[in-house]
Amino acid sequence: MTNQNAQIYIDSNRTIAEISPLLFGGFVEHMGRCVYEGIYDPQSPLADEQGLRKDVLAALREQQYTTIRYPGGNFLSGYNWLDGVGPKNQRPRRRELAWQSIETNQFGTNEFIDFCRAINTEPMLAVNMGTGTIESAGNLVEYCNAPLGTYYADLRASHGYRDPHNVQYWCVGNEMDGPWQIGHLEAEAYGLKALEAAKMMKWHDPAIKTVLCGSSNDKMPTYPEWDRVALELAWEKVDYHSIHYYAGNWDGDTASYLALPIDLENYVDTVASTLRYVKAKRRSKHDVYLSWDEWQVWYKDRSGRGNWTEAPHLSEEIYNLEDALLVAQWLNVFLRKSDVVKIACVAQIVNIISWLHTRTDGLLKQASFYPFKLVSNLAKGHALDLAVNAPTYETKRYGAVPCLDVSASYDEATGRQAIFIVNRGQSEAVVTDLIWQATAPTRVNAAWQLSGSDPKAINSWENPNLITAKPLNTPLISDGKTTLSLPPLSFTVLSTS
Ligand code: AHR
Repeated sequence: MTNQNAQIYIDSNRTIAEISPLLFGGFVEHMGRCVYEGIYDPQSPLADEQGLRKDVLAALREQQYTTIRYPGGNFLSGYNWLDGVGPKNQRPRRRELAWQSIETNQFGTNEFIDFCRAINTEPMLAVNMGTGTIESAGNLVEYCNAPLGTYYADLRASHGYRDPHNVQYWCVGNEMDGPWQIGHLEAEAYGLKALEAAKMMKWHDPAIKTVLCGSSNDKMPTYPEWDRVALELAWEKVDYHSIHYYAGNWDGDTASYLALPIDLENYVDTVASTLRYVKAKRRSKHDVYLSWDEWQVWYKDRSGRGNWTEAPHLSEEIYNLEDALLVAQWLNVFLRKSDVVKIACVAQIVNIISWLHTRTDGLLKQASFYPFKLVSNLAKGHALDLAVNAPTYETKRYGAVPCLDVSASYDEATGRQAIFIVNRGQSEAVVTDLIWQATAPTRVNAAWQLSGSDPKAINSWENPNLITAKPLNTPLISDGKTTLSLPPLSFTVLSTS
């Protein structure tokens, strides 16, 4: 292995934007084993008195999720929220069409709010724009947020919840551009319906923030026109515009796969330009930001049919080292684009397309659990605009790309910085100088590294700790500089004071 040199220039005055705490969100859908056998499993010896899996709650707390989006996903577009509230023995068993599963409705809106409170996270609810009406959307806001004295608020109280839930974030539908969506709509029809739904929802509670459905991904034939049309119609009543993206190493080309952040940044830039265009066209003073409310690696197990069973094992993706390095870079993209991306939710938080898998007797943390945990715990304050000078490697898809993918944060209140560095090269260590251009921190408090030589290495039930973030000896800072040797296929994190 030969060494190559890089420099990362850090100036805490050179900021991009304040990092929205909601960048470290998750997504729970009634799909496969995310809800049932994931977060909710009353029969399990590992469940608490509310039926929530204690080991799952502990792992979610470790990851410090700041918001959780619920209840879907494609499930949402056929869901009647009234099925999931009230006495459990009166809730209907339904054929759930999106994933062709049986939905028992034993977990619904109130159980979800209790779950959010248990992990100290902000709930983000979604209203059905497929089979749902604008009236049912408004009613759910009343049920959740209105004071007592009217029908739906009193219904909530009769279900044991006198105090309003005060849910602040609301998605107006899910992936309505997708022909796979129950009740799919053309952009114009959706924009008009979303405007009317958001209007009613905000009349019930003017404090809420609404999220419009954007393109389901950047390969949709209607992208980015869908975004422009829906935004032009609904602009003044929405606060965020959603994007989704699932990544995969479909052609077994690790070099290109690890350079995917190029596409991810282009995607953000295109939709951000659309936001600017629509704001200008409407002569609006109102701002709309991005909510990247589904993101994850998903390509090895795309199973989505439950054969009309309860909690089927669907899409329980196995994550390897290269996936974990992509996740680390994705989080870097959120920080680098923190001026426009204000909400992000990983899809999903347990079992389905998730780095956490449950068994009746335990919980497996896959490799990509660790980058999320480190970044969500440490990235506070402002994202920094770094200057990075790094050697390159060749890819089939993008030509030469820099080996290093980097982001950093600076929290003025505590004086702490955090620096997140991926060496996505597969063969060379990169000797990297971190050079502080304004005041340098006095010391590195803590450092971690996740790395390995085999991009396909995984954590398994038999060997659960093969790929984790291991503490590193903290390097010394001297004359405003420190030097690290970053192994190939590695993610390194420094926290300074
Ligand atoms: O997260 C799984 C599915 O992916 C969601 O239901 C849908 O919104 C997306 O297509």
